[in-house]
Amino acid sequence: MPSIDVGDVSLSYSESGSGPLALFIHGYPLDARMWRHQLERLADHRHCVAVDLRGSGKSEGEVADSLSMEIHAEDMAAFIAALGEEQADVVALSMGGYVALAMWERYPSLIRSLVLADTQAKADDDAGKAKRDAAKEFLVSDGRQALAGAMAVALTAPDSAVEVRAGVREMIESTEYETIVAALEGMKQRADRTEMLGSITAPTLIIVGDQDGVTPPAVAEAMAGAIPGSSLEVISDAGHMTPMEQPDRFSTLVSDFWTRSDS
Ligand code: MLT
Repeated sequence: MPSIDVGDVSLSYSESGSGPLALFIHGYPLDARMWRHQLERLADHRHCVAVDLRGSGKSEGEVADSLSMEIHAEDMAAFIAALGEEQADVVALSMGGYVALAMWERYPSLIRSLVLADTQAKADDDAGKAKRDAAKEFLVSDGRQALAGAMAVALTAPDSAVEVRAGVREMIESTEYETIVAALEGMKQRADRTEMLGSITAPTLIIVGDQDGVTPPAVAEAMAGAIPGSSLEVISDAGHMTPMEQPDRFSTLVSDFWTRSDS
């Protein structure tokens, strides 16, 4: 996997295709492998780059105690520049979506278009923050394998293919403990960006799985209502991991969206 030094880290990535840059940002506590199908299927449309965020996958370098969305947004801005580009079509899932919204807040001109999959703009409420602390405790007491097993089920629809769950589990099991803890802290502290949604002028597609139990369709509908001109697609027979659970449908929605926003 190639990597690029940005600031104090080296960010690894997978790539395919050529043309305008499309940047794929993964969720928690996953890595660039979750976009494998999209890199195969969208290579005719874009130079597709799936990055491993700081601390994840094969990226190397400092992981702060809290991996904030702002730290990742700064990394993504530097990463796009290091690729020699001025803009990207950003495709982001869940925590990746939190990062994409922080990018919009800081560097709107970097974003040519936006796909927000299975994500939200709201901050954690008190119950959500308590769940982050409980997840840290669970990780330390029961270990990464137990967390991975529980999350592989929670992030996917009940009828999801075993291969998909195995892929999710494998990514979580290979994520460092420090990264998982720092990501939980970063998400716990993240800003509420609901008010900012009205300022998004980039073409935006929102995608959600009909059985997403983490960021359910109602959350996606609210985001679509708040982002001017955005469209919403609900993917059937999918939980939170739409790009992996329904890869063909997800990729078709993205390529159709790019075709529309290019014209
Ligand atoms: C993710 O998939 O990135 C996480 O479920 C997001 C979250 O826990 O808020």
